[in-house]
Amino acid sequence: MIVVTGATGHLGKLVVEGLLEKLPADQVVAAVRSPEKADGLAARGVEVRRADYGDPDSLVSAFKGADKVLLVSGSEVGRRVEQHQAVLEAAKQAGVGHLVYTSAPKATTSSLVVAPEHKATEELIQASGLTATILRNNWYNENYADVIKQAVETGSFAGSAGDGRVASATRADYAAAAVAVLTGDGHEGKIYELTGDVAWSSADLAAEIGRATGREISYADLPADEHAKVLTEAGLPEPVVGLLVTLDANIKDGLLAETTGDLRALIGRPTTPIGVTVAEIAAA
Ligand SMILES: NC(=O)c1ccc[n+]([C@@H]2O[C@H](COP(=O)([O-])OP(=O)(O)OC[C@H]3O[C@@H](n4cnc5c(N)ncnc54)[C@H](OP(=O)(O)O)[C@@H]3O)[C@@H](O)[C@H]2O)c1
Repeated sequence: MIVVTGATGHLGKLVVEGLLEKLPADQVVAAVRSPEKADGLAARGVEVRRADYGDPDSLVSAFKGADKVLLVSGSEVGRRVEQHQAVLEAAKQAGVGHLVYTSAPKATTSSLVVAPEHKATEELIQASGLTATILRNNWYNENYADVIKQAVETGSFAGSAGDGRVASATRADYAAAAVAVLTGDGHEGKIYELTGDVAWSSADLAAEIGRATGREISYADLPADEHAKVLTEAGLPEPVVGLLVTLDANIKDGLLAETTGDLRALIGRPTTPIGVTVAEIAAA
């Protein structure tokens, strides 16, 4: 039996749907912090169990009888190491045979701003003695949904990533990789660097939005402080502004640029190009 945490989130939901295509529903458990949000999954015959990363007892109950657990990294930045540690302890207590974790690109060596919590979690996994697989997901194409919508509306967008490239793929691609690992053999102990097949720059993104809309779209590359000003004036809260500007600096430094082929190999098909996501968002 396979338990998926964060199953009401964007990625977790796609993993559960992918598992249901390969396994009977009674082999899949959706572990969620708010069961009332999981009615759709329950209606498909999936057992829904409450699992709050902040409530260790709920985690042990949620993992009871699990052969495998997918730990979808939490979304409460700053609290994730302690939360993930609780998940690992519960997995050990429940006798989980194989833990799969969604991490960040080169988490243990990268200076990427979001890497430290993933590095700490990977080290805890290593120390736990659990049989594990690490899925180091590069960026989601969908992270650019707001930028794409804004560019479609106004004909331009701004950033500070320079010529830096992003080897992104869709959440559906990463979910398919998680399904492949959870239902396949020989993934124990492996660390996969999951990336899109193609790394694209902000100029490439502008060109894709232009292709999808039939209009000229311009990308304004700004110094970091001016980028921060634009985001602040757009009404974004200060911590979000800081994160976005730092991420663009990380992208400019090439921290998300490497393509590995691991994702394509796991899912057995090319990854979804950013242009496909752009076209879907522009058409919506
Ligand atoms: N690679 C990337 O580009 C990228 C971008 C953003 C985030 N991420 C990471 O990847 C993860 C999955 O992405 P996503 O798009 O699916 O994010 P998401 O939609 O925000 O899903 C996060 C999931 O974690 C659950 N969660 C958060 N705190 C929890 C807690 N205390 N106890 C139990 N569950 C908790 C949420 O529960 P609810 O459904 O109840 O809210 C949600 O189901 C994120 O959480 C984040 O760590 C990666």
